[in-house]
Amino acid sequence: MQKNLFNYYQKYLPINENTPFVSIGEGFTPLVKSENLSDKYNCNIFFKLEGSNPSGSFKDRGMFLTVAKTLEKKKKKIICASTGNTSASAAAYGARYNLETVVIIPKGKIALGKLIQAMAYGAKIISINGNFDESLLAVKEISDSLDFEIVNSINPYRLEGQKTGAFEIIEQLGFSPDFQFIPVGNAGNISSYWKGYKQFYDSKICNKLPVLYGIQADGAAPLVDNKIIKNPNTIASAIRIGNPASADLAKDSINESSGEFIKVSDDNILDAQKIIARKEGIFCELASAASVAGLIKLISKGYDFSNKNIVCILTGNGLKDPENAQQYLKSNIIKASSDPDEIKEAILKY
Ligand code: F0G
Repeated sequence: MQKNLFNYYQKYLPINENTPFVSIGEGFTPLVKSENLSDKYNCNIFFKLEGSNPSGSFKDRGMFLTVAKTLEKKKKKIICASTGNTSASAAAYGARYNLETVVIIPKGKIALGKLIQAMAYGAKIISINGNFDESLLAVKEISDSLDFEIVNSINPYRLEGQKTGAFEIIEQLGFSPDFQFIPVGNAGNISSYWKGYKQFYDSKICNKLPVLYGIQADGAAPLVDNKIIKNPNTIASAIRIGNPASADLAKDSINESSGEFIKVSDDNILDAQKIIARKEGIFCELASAASVAGLIKLISKGYDFSNKNIVCILTGNGLKDPENAQQYLKSNIIKASSDPDEIKEAILKY
């Protein structure tokens, strides 16, 4: 039987006898040791492959619990604003548990794969003239009057569910990592991880806490620049957010862990995506690659991570965003007929 987060971590989660069981097989994602970057930088780098979740991102960890609590409250409708992954996840769980699901997305600003997911799962999709921050404001304004449960990370059950990522890392390594790099958009996930690490530390399941680095993109770095960004801009659409809802929690996480918020350029992010794909065989989405871009940036600035254990959270699957990949990961595709000799010639010429 497939393990599930609902049962396996029940005693660490706000689940009681009235909470209906919810699962699409989320969690228990691989923690894969880097073969090439670890050697290059003389440290142990691990990738947490959150793109292996059922809807292809870490959002499913929070969504299973949020939907379970929605059902417990006997509510039948869920709503979210999204840069894409939350909408895909909400739509998946909404479909399976027969909830009316509405997703509000910034028009033209979400990756094609994520949009197709929401469509496939059958959500009601409202595409607005506005960015993510405006989408979330709208959701907050209309949810009550229409009796919708908000399933964005301002819903506390999202953060509760997502802390299972930290639990798994501790169990997979047998200890807490020294450092964790994680992309930051609306700032919920970094807060969840910190919560999870602290909970296992308090329960004496681990005996140290990691230092957290929260990575943002240059054009969408409200937590690095310490101000709201009105028109956030980055190629990493998942983290194109200028006014993170969980800013305060994320700042606390960084301060308590003695970490830092770091910003990286779009070029750094693209380079990191390529390196992870071509050196490690893992295709993650651009926002996820920001975590590795942050690590590489700090190493180039002289931070010493020698012999340390470092986890980079690869939050989503690269296949969600084929458009950007096509545009930026160009390789020369040579055309040939089906004639084996011509194919052979093409290979040798490549
Ligand atoms: N990585 C990916 C792939 C994401 O989709 C997101 C957020 C993040 C990182 C940042 O996580 O917001 O908890 O700091 N995506 C949200 C969405 C905003 O709507 O799908 P965060």
